[in-house]
Amino acid sequence: MEVADAPIRVQSIAQEDRKVVVPPEYIQPPENRPSKLGNGNATDHKIPMIDLGGDKDVNLLCEEIGRACREWGAFHVANHGVPIALLDEIRKAGTSFFEELPMAEKLRYSCDPNSPASEGYGSRMLVASDDAVLDWRDFFDHHTFPLSRRHLSRWPHSPPNYREVIAEYSDQMKVLAEKLLGLISTSLGLSSSFIEEAMGELYQNITISYYPSCPQPELTLGLQSHSDMGFITLLIQDKVAGLQVSKDGEWVTVDPVSHAILVILGDQTEHRAITNANRARLSVATFHDPAKTMSVSPAFKPPRYRQVIYGDYVSSWYTKGPNGKRNIDALLI
Ligand code: OGA
Ligand code: NI
Repeated sequence: MEVADAPIRVQSIAQEDRKVVVPPEYIQPPENRPSKLGNGNATDHKIPMIDLGGDKDVNLLCEEIGRACREWGAFHVANHGVPIALLDEIRKAGTSFFEELPMAEKLRYSCDPNSPASEGYGSRMLVASDDAVLDWRDFFDHHTFPLSRRHLSRWPHSPPNYREVIAEYSDQMKVLAEKLLGLISTSLGLSSSFIEEAMGELYQNITISYYPSCPQPELTLGLQSHSDMGFITLLIQDKVAGLQVSKDGEWVTVDPVSHAILVILGDQTEHRAITNANRARLSVATFHDPAKTMSVSPAFKPPRYRQVIYGDYVSSWYTKGPNGKRNIDALLI
């Protein structure tokens, strides 16, 4: 078990000399391993790409978004209004933190392993004692909205522009998330502010994930199968593929598109990350959630899910583990 004064990071394990096998706690049971069949090889399946730019008719745009939400629960957006240079800068800042800082320096920013989703540098998604099999991943979690949660002093001081880049990226993602939530609301026949109003105050977290190369990618997962809890996740990755989305019972690899942003519809979309033997991989996921005190319930009648207080929903995710879409399925009526 990880204890506060001796945290273990996957990057340290991966860098051990002549490491050819992964420690047993990272080995997935056979049914969860990335197998050859249905392992993202389906070439006829591609995540939709939606162009938000130009003067496209808003009804057509909403129709396109509605279809992508229903059929995939995930889609790329292009011409999203976020400067491409900023996407490159955050990828660069993240890579620099994970690859250029000495481990001892990085560990100064360690998150609290006993508190779910605490801010900082970590490896375990669930609280220390609850992980069944460990993910082959290190991460840095930043609390970014509401602004009262944004403490730049807790973020890496190197590279020098790191904190500035995260703050700017956070602001830009919030604008895009609100625009998308408006379009998604409209696509459902609701008023464009419906989801935003249901959300109340917006909570945003940014997680930079670093997946070191892995000596046995066939036995491990970078990130176990899960769905994200909040309203909308905006994700970018580097050039190394690894993210997979579940579609009609098959795992489909999301091809990296450097200028695009992947939209993941919270708990509607089961996804995971696989590892590879040759290259480390980096992603930046920006989560948009309601406040913990908000009551969440279906917009349509008859409801298919029970009402829940968002904070209880989050606690259940972190104590029982994601196990695909277990948390949302538990609320099915
Ligand atoms: C996440 C996530 C996938 C990835 O952080 O919730 O799904 O590609 N990340 O890193
Ligand atoms: Ni996710």
